[in-house]
Amino acid sequence: MRGTTEQMNTNTTTVSTSPAGTLARTGTAPAPNPAPTAGRLSGHDLTLGYDQRVISKDLNVCVPDGSFTVIIGPNACGKSTLLRALSRLLKPSSGRVILDGKPIHSIPAKQVATRLGLLPQSSISPDGITVADLVARGRYPHQKILSRWSDDDEAATIEALRATNTTELSRRLVDELSGGQRQRVWVAMVLAQQTPLLLLDEPTTFLDIAHQIEIMELCRKLNRGSGHTIVAVLHDLNHACRYANHLIAMKDGAIIAEGAPAEIVTEKLVEEVFGLPCRIIQDPVSHTPLVIPLGHPEE
Ligand SMILES: Nc1ncnc2c1ncn2[C@@H]1O[C@H](COP(=O)(O)OP(=O)(O)O)[C@@H](O)[C@H]1O
Ligand SMILES: [Mg+2]
Repeated sequence: MRGTTEQMNTNTTTVSTSPAGTLARTGTAPAPNPAPTAGRLSGHDLTLGYDQRVISKDLNVCVPDGSFTVIIGPNACGKSTLLRALSRLLKPSSGRVILDGKPIHSIPAKQVATRLGLLPQSSISPDGITVADLVARGRYPHQKILSRWSDDDEAATIEALRATNTTELSRRLVDELSGGQRQRVWVAMVLAQQTPLLLLDEPTTFLDIAHQIEIMELCRKLNRGSGHTIVAVLHDLNHACRYANHLIAMKDGAIIAEGAPAEIVTEKLVEEVFGLPCRIIQDPVSHTPLVIPLGHPEE
């Protein structure tokens, strides 16, 4: 949907309902977010945390099927924690994550991994592993005990290397790559897993601008072309607005607003979520909101 500059600068909305029925809420006192609607992956009344430390409470979230969902929010607001819970890595202290109608913790991890792939925010590769071998590990959930490397495994690995432009790196050691090269190799590994749901935690970190766009376009292609549902955590608000069709804004463990970028990204929301005064204009290329930080006047 193309938003006009006027629409984007409207910052008085407290509650609005998009045509898709998603709720966009902006306001200083976040109300408990509404119960999720249908989708293959959703979280219900989630309390998430580490030991006694609660990060999110009563969180409800639904990943719309076939969406390119992007989660934004300041450092340490709980984005990775939410992604870890949605991918079965972190068990909620209360509430449930539902995948295909079942509590995700009742589904064996290997089975979950055939439907949902996670690129964690930071990953450590085994010592001395080559790029090709690391990407091939993405095939693990598809392999049965004693089964041999199949043509499907080979084809998926080759395609993942190609899609991430890492084919030329395939014989190199992962340890010897630059941060950006390594990031693309991790993306290749999760692509080789060939799951309909992809959860990517900061997939563009360490990448130069061209490679950031390349990964964003790859995500869009997977989303639109092959019907993958994608959830990505991004720091670049303008990339989020340009590529996502569903945006989730988080602050202090809560979802403050969600919906189409043109409907929810306002100057007020950016100020509220990031404490950053900004101006919002229309991106002349994609016609989505373009956030221009105003910064703070020099003393
Ligand atoms: N393994 C952990 N043990 C304890 N606290 C953690 C752990 N991982 C994250 N946290 C804390 O949880 C909060 C949310 O972290 P995180 O979800 O990683 O934030 P984000 O991804 O939004 O930057 C932070 O305060 C962080 O320090
Ligand atoms: Mg994080």
